Amino acid sequence: MAVYIVMGVSGVGKSTVGKLLALQMDLLFYDADDFHPPENVEKMKAGIPLQDEDRKGWLDILARKISTWNQKGGAVLACSALKEKYRKQLQSIPREQLTWIYLHSTFELIKERLLLRKDHFFKPELLTSQFETLEPPGYGIHIDANNSPEQIIQQIMQKLNNKISRIGLYGLGVMGKSLALNLASKGVQVSVFNRHLKAVEENVAKDFAASHSNDFKFNWFDEPEKFVASLARPRNIILMVNAGKTVDVVIENLLPHLEKDDLIIDGGNSHYKDSERREKFLKKKGILFLGTGISGGEEGALKGPSIMPGGEPTAYDRIGDILEKIAAKDKNGKACCTYIGPGGAGHFVKMLHNGIEYAEMQFIAEIYHFMRFSLSLDQEGVAGFFEKWNKEMRSYLLEISIEILRKKENAEFILDKILDAAKQKGTGGWSTKAALELGVPLDTITSAVMARIISGKKEQRVKAAEIYNTKPHKKEFKKIEKSLFQAFQAEQIINHAIGFDLLKSASEEYRWNLNLSEISRIWTNGCIIRSGLMEDLVKLFRENKDENLLLHKEIVDFIKEARQDLILVITQALQAGVPMPGMSAALNYLLSFTAAQTSANMIQAQRDYFGAHTYERVGKPRGEFFHTKW
Ligand code: 6PG
Repeated sequence: MAVYIVMGVSGVGKSTVGKLLALQMDLLFYDADDFHPPENVEKMKAGIPLQDEDRKGWLDILARKISTWNQKGGAVLACSALKEKYRKQLQSIPREQLTWIYLHSTFELIKERLLLRKDHFFKPELLTSQFETLEPPGYGIHIDANNSPEQIIQQIMQKLNNKISRIGLYGLGVMGKSLALNLASKGVQVSVFNRHLKAVEENVAKDFAASHSNDFKFNWFDEPEKFVASLARPRNIILMVNAGKTVDVVIENLLPHLEKDDLIIDGGNSHYKDSERREKFLKKKGILFLGTGISGGEEGALKGPSIMPGGEPTAYDRIGDILEKIAAKDKNGKACCTYIGPGGAGHFVKMLHNGIEYAEMQFIAEIYHFMRFSLSLDQEGVAGFFEKWNKEMRSYLLEISIEILRKKENAEFILDKILDAAKQKGTGGWSTKAALELGVPLDTITSAVMARIISGKKEQRVKAAEIYNTKPHKKEFKKIEKSLFQAFQAEQIINHAIGFDLLKSASEEYRWNLNLSEISRIWTNGCIIRSGLMEDLVKLFRENKDENLLLHKEIVDFIKEARQDLILVITQALQAGVPMPGMSAALNYLLSFTAAQTSANMIQAQRDYFGAHTYERVGKPRGEFFHTKW
């Protein structure tokens, strides 16, 4: 909703500019003169200046029209509106929805122009009275009318773009701020919003805009209505708020101010089922929704994250260019952002990204811990090995772990000062739940989640350690030095095989048509799990779409060699009394996945024994069930 009034004295070019502006903005154009009652027209034709009494009825008509046009999608009106009191009378809609464009020029120049015009009922001598009446507004957009209409339009659009934002960003937490700066640095005009809560969150949006005013012009707001009104229609609003109930509350707050075809992009770590629910709910109201995973933490959001949008393709078409602009770029310069699929696909993929992240972090933590406390390397020693490995692996998580290992605080390693009790916000566990629902094994990710949970029981662990007198035994580093790297690489592959297997199953179950190669590609940069392996996966999944990663020829060759290393490292660690839940889970998955015969015949027999649950028989077709009288 917006109405633009091009104002100024007669002959300054209001109609010409107004018509062009309306064309440019795809709005209807109106000329205020067309709404004069006949008696006013007569007076003007006769060269009799209009009095305020004459104008009152006319301005009333216009004020009502402005309100109607605004409700119907906006308009451009050419109207002299010379006095402040006339303008006040015309202000029948909220201030931020009415933009004044003041065209100004000199008496001489306008007189010259008017004398050339034959078809106009205005007499040049009335110009004097116009200038006498004129009270230039102290607000709005001021434009010198002595340029070509095209130049004038360009100037207006430039100024409007600073006022009307292409995108709105709701929520200025760490990620929201970084994303707003990223958008602004790409030349996108952004309106930022943060609630103003006394003594809790005060002036967040205002302070943010002020602190960056040297570099960017953010339109800031702490009232939803004004925030929404500052956006170009149809509106695009990115929510960067805490996942969960907050998203619903924010949507409820925004809804009264939104219109059909507006788009909400939820950029938080929302649960994919919530995104599906929200998309359906908003669709009924004509509002588009994109559940969009954004990975890369604070730095990624600022410099280029990996972006995973899910929802209707038309919604992506609307905003894709901006998302791709702010996303990280892959090695070929292509944006690490792609349309993922319908419904909750975007947030499902982000959830699983985090699941893979949980397990990768767990592997690094386990190996570090083993090297440090059983293999007796010091921090620098571990960092040195990680550094060597990372030349090949190019893993972001390994890269930051090296820096973490080396970081000192007051000449002491900071890692030793951090309590070993891990927190989590849910995405890892959600991945496990999704896997259970879909009947897909998710060993590594699930173990990583459980490892975080048991780590949180610090006091109980300390007590139990005393009772059991447990301390890691020393193992000889030289004996397994070479195997460590092989084992670590194998873990990474197994974890990715597990993760992508879940994506494949979800895609089939929910008919998302996920493109695994494309998902790997947008995970090659910007996100937390970027690595050399991810780059290889782009090609592997492109060539062999549906195959489990562990069945790809190149992968098989590597894993066959690394399997013994994996077994060696894990048995050594377990013998030393060092827990390896994540790594063991990877190994057990591999052993189970590659075992033609498992122990499950016993499980089936037990089930049939105590509950007559029946079993399938060797040599008989699958799906044919038998029962034994035990
Ligand atoms: C990312 C991260 C990000 C966040 C995780 C951490 O991709 O940028 O995954 O989304 O850091 O949600 O989650 P936990 O707090 O559960 O470890």
